[in-house]
Amino acid sequence: MAGNPDRSKAETGIMRWIDDRFPLTQMWEDHMSKYYVPKNFNVWYLFGVLSLFILVNQLLTGIWLTMSYEPTAEGAFASIEYIMRDVEMGWIIRYMHSTGASAFFAVIYLHMFRGLMYGSYKKPRELIWLFGMCIYLVLMAEGFFGYLLPWGNMSYWGAQVIVSLFSAIPLIGEDLAQWIRGDYLISGITLNRFFSLHVIALPIVLLGLVVLHLIALHETGSNNPDGVEIKNHKDVNGVPLDGVPMHPYFVVKDLVGIGVFLIVFCLIIFFFPEMGGYFIEKPNYEPANPLKTPEHIAPVWYYTPFYAMLRACTFNFWGMIDAKFFGVIVMAGSIAILFVLPWLDRSPVRSMRYKGVLSRIGLASFVVCFITLGILGAIPTTEERTLLAQIATGIYFLFFILMPFYTRIEATKTPPERITIT
Ligand code: HEM
Repeated sequence: MAGNPDRSKAETGIMRWIDDRFPLTQMWEDHMSKYYVPKNFNVWYLFGVLSLFILVNQLLTGIWLTMSYEPTAEGAFASIEYIMRDVEMGWIIRYMHSTGASAFFAVIYLHMFRGLMYGSYKKPRELIWLFGMCIYLVLMAEGFFGYLLPWGNMSYWGAQVIVSLFSAIPLIGEDLAQWIRGDYLISGITLNRFFSLHVIALPIVLLGLVVLHLIALHETGSNNPDGVEIKNHKDVNGVPLDGVPMHPYFVVKDLVGIGVFLIVFCLIIFFFPEMGGYFIEKPNYEPANPLKTPEHIAPVWYYTPFYAMLRACTFNFWGMIDAKFFGVIVMAGSIAILFVLPWLDRSPVRSMRYKGVLSRIGLASFVVCFITLGILGAIPTTEERTLLAQIATGIYFLFFILMPFYTRIEATKTPPERITIT
């Protein structure tokens, strides 16, 4: 059928009927059966699909939770107890959602790390990275709004701490914090708006961003562990020589990965749903109480690196910016700097496999500091810990700020022209 403009349509039957009205076969071919991905993908390339899988889990379990949840200060806490005890399968739906939130962040952090390691943000994939960063921001907001909904005491005080950060902004801070809360303190009004943002507004934005992320990905094609551009070597039919169709080859591999993920996921849900207080914190088994501050307020684990940076800012910056506002700037800056990453990396090669020793030391230090900050943000402060957090915060920023220099001066290895691993 070569040369036939209708070649991406089914020949007969119901598919032909659909294809005459909607490009279903064409889309399937463009994005699956004739979408070529590098044949040297390794396990790091699983986490994109896993993110999609968890996104669907969060949407489905979220819809079912909403059926029995009551978004009022009077009823929220009790409605969660009702879901856990009385609603048929309610406990598993709730644990799938709460564990899913932690799994989402774990998978996203691995997905982002893969990007850092293989230079997937570099030209021509800058937009994939930027859409990814927007997803990450929305995801953080989504997690924050969702955390208030059980209306436990940690929900309440966590929201109190984070919203009060806005009040550190000079001039407009107090009004801004009040505008966000819709009240003078966190109340049922705040709960209502966080609920609508969590179940409607942000999921829509998130879905839209994921679609944009994937459109950008399928426009440029995937990077790979060698950083080789597979589009540079095609056969006479225009098929990349180093690529294999996404379906069935990587779909089958991804299914195995999803299976392994589900085993771990089920183990957590069935045996450690609270994960020692890291997935569901102990004070959240008490209803919100504005008169009783939990002994130690800490955010959920996936925010703790940024919380540690905030707490590391214990001094006024040049006597002009007070410590709390400085902390907010540092925290916002630590995420903002990731947006410009594609323009900070000046290396002639993409993958860490061919970069020089400075990039390797840089990335290793970055990871160590991020994990150290994550641990420090989860435990109470001491003088020594604050100092350690300050050093780790400094190295976090230096990794990015010095990148234009060390990526240019270091000696790199020449990447292969073609993918050699079979
Ligand atoms: C809901 C969240 C997300 C979903 C569903 C998602 C989905 C995907 C999928 C399916 C892929 C292709 C498979 C793969 O390379 O693993 C991909 C690639 C990619 N994603 Fe994401 N992603 C998400 C968040 C992010 C975030 C937060 C970032 C970074 C800030 C990011 C950066 C990238 C990059 C750079 C690639 C291309 C990787 C390469 O070709 O080497 N993604 N994403």
